[in-house]
Amino acid sequence: MLQSELTARRLKEKIPFHVLTLDEWSKNDINHLLERAQFFTGQPRQQPNNRYYAANLFFEPSTRTKISFEAAEKNLGLDVLHFEADTSSVKKGETLYDTVKTIESIGADIVVIRHGQERYFDELTRKVDIPIINGGDGCGHHPTQSLLDLLTIKQEFGGFEGIQVVIAGDIFHSRVARSNLDVLERLGADVRVSGPEGWMDETLMKRYLPMDEAVKSADVLMMLRIQHERHTVQMVAGPEEYHQRFGLTKTREKKMKPNSIIMHPAPINRGVEMDSDLVECDRSRIFKQMKNGVFVRMAVLDLCLQQSNGGISI
Ligand code: CP
Repeated sequence: MLQSELTARRLKEKIPFHVLTLDEWSKNDINHLLERAQFFTGQPRQQPNNRYYAANLFFEPSTRTKISFEAAEKNLGLDVLHFEADTSSVKKGETLYDTVKTIESIGADIVVIRHGQERYFDELTRKVDIPIINGGDGCGHHPTQSLLDLLTIKQEFGGFEGIQVVIAGDIFHSRVARSNLDVLERLGADVRVSGPEGWMDETLMKRYLPMDEAVKSADVLMMLRIQHERHTVQMVAGPEEYHQRFGLTKTREKKMKPNSIIMHPAPINRGVEMDSDLVECDRSRIFKQMKNGVFVRMAVLDLCLQQSNGGISI
């Protein structure tokens, strides 16, 4: 069983074990989770042998997070209860709380939720008795994306101390950037940002590197998608201008250090934040990140179910 400071605390509290942000996770908690995810990378798939039900409630579009949670649930032998927001009673005005409470009453043992409202989970955790895993809340947090990014970096460099990570692009609207900035720094990485200065606040500007410098010094260059759906005003630069000023062009990629890697949470605007040919280049770990997403989500589901069932293994 995974034992860490966080799990010991939660066991004492006798409440469902949610994963909402990584804010209260210590270095040990994170390392325990990454070790568990690494363990899953070498495991054969399990045959379904239990009757735990998982439901994935996605109120915003997703390819990777939704499908990889489903794969992770199936790999652990969980049964998946299907839910599509567009054909559910959400269309008749049902609230998020009523949807989750309904799914819990029907028998779900755990729910994964993606929702456009930041911190949608604050109210829910007080009112439901099953664990909630946050699959992304507006511009807020995306803890399992962070954990899969951490696993990918750890596999590459063996740890985080002294590794320079540059997060580049639409930092302001990115829940991935928000989740990663803090956690990477706590783990000892030197975290910098790059991209349009209009998308940085004062705190971010202290970490700012122009893209032409960032490519030369970064060990990990984490490119971000432009989150058009969260912009309230039209972008000043068009796609080609953005690519030339802030994107990872082929010319910039050639200036990267020999062992540096490129990451991106995806989906990717090919030719905008990065050149399309670089998406699958030797330094790219983008598809490795997606693969790791399944293992990290297995570890997170396993952790939540174990800890919410008094530490009993699923
Ligand atoms: N990276 C990520 O969260 O992708 P999806 O939006 O496709 O889930």
